Amino acid sequence: MSFYETLANDAVAAIEDAADVETLDGLRPTLLGKKAGLTSAKSQLGTLEPDQRKEAGQRLNVARQLVEAAFASRRDALAASARAEALETERLDLTEFQSKTSPGHLHLVTQARDRLEDVFVGMGYTIAEGPEVETAWYNFEALNIPEWHPARGSFDTIFVNLGEPEAVMLRSHTSPVQIRTMENQKPPIYIIAPGRTFRTDTADATHLPAFNQIEGLVIDRNITMGDLAGTIDTFVRAFFGEEVKSRLRPSYFPFTEPSAEFDISRDDGSWLELGGCGMVNPQVLRNCGIDPDEWQGFAFGFGIDRLAVMRYQLDDIRELVNNDVRFLRQF
Ligand code: DAH
Repeated sequence: MSFYETLANDAVAAIEDAADVETLDGLRPTLLGKKAGLTSAKSQLGTLEPDQRKEAGQRLNVARQLVEAAFASRRDALAASARAEALETERLDLTEFQSKTSPGHLHLVTQARDRLEDVFVGMGYTIAEGPEVETAWYNFEALNIPEWHPARGSFDTIFVNLGEPEAVMLRSHTSPVQIRTMENQKPPIYIIAPGRTFRTDTADATHLPAFNQIEGLVIDRNITMGDLAGTIDTFVRAFFGEEVKSRLRPSYFPFTEPSAEFDISRDDGSWLELGGCGMVNPQVLRNCGIDPDEWQGFAFGFGIDRLAVMRYQLDDIRELVNNDVRFLRQF
């Protein structure tokens, strides 16, 4: 092996030994820089006989190219593996805070709402929405609750300080979504509208000031009270189980005529009130530009939180908002 090849081989061995880019770069002056063996060998070419000089020069060039190439490819390889390692260690793992064994689950009320939606979507209903801040027109007037109406007082409304006194409020029920839907959609209408509702109630075992309701509205031709009763019955069986019965009890709501409250049967033979319902008052249809001689409908509304309380037999509705994971985890 010639002198140049020995120099080159030693240089390549050192290059291959370098464990990272910094070490490799540190080797460059000694292997390829001014003081490198292959560099000083070049300046000594002049001491050779002219006929040997050309051949030695070529061998020296080959040796130097070999080292340059080894250096470049080793550098590429080290840089690539350093990048890969950085990518691996610096990667943001967005799932790392979610325990693999206990990923959590939807809140009880969300579960109940999702199931309700499933039941009604299965019956051909679509889901409607409305704003949580409403005007007196939608929350009361269009629903046939004029300002002087005693029912207005029973809603314990939380008003928003905007415009005329008592003109804007947090909706006290989901019934205003009936109005918004009838204003925007031509019959036939089959919708449910789940959503948050608000009243000045103080939180206790059976009340929350911010709670959830679900509204149902059907507008079609030849709709009767029988359709309403059948719909409630189908929903109750689908949601609570085939053995649970429902019944309607005469009641009063300004937006329905006739009106009823509906109850579900309990194991001990007693009845539990679930919500209100009735045939949509013709005046409400007229308020929305729908001709009551051509179209009829029924509506119903009840609390989703209360439904969750019944379904899971909780003894305090406030458990739903205490956010105690030891409680929530059970469901
Ligand atoms: N909006 C009523 C309430 O919050 C519940 C209700 C009763 C809704 C009868 C209806 C209905 O759609 O027909 O007390």
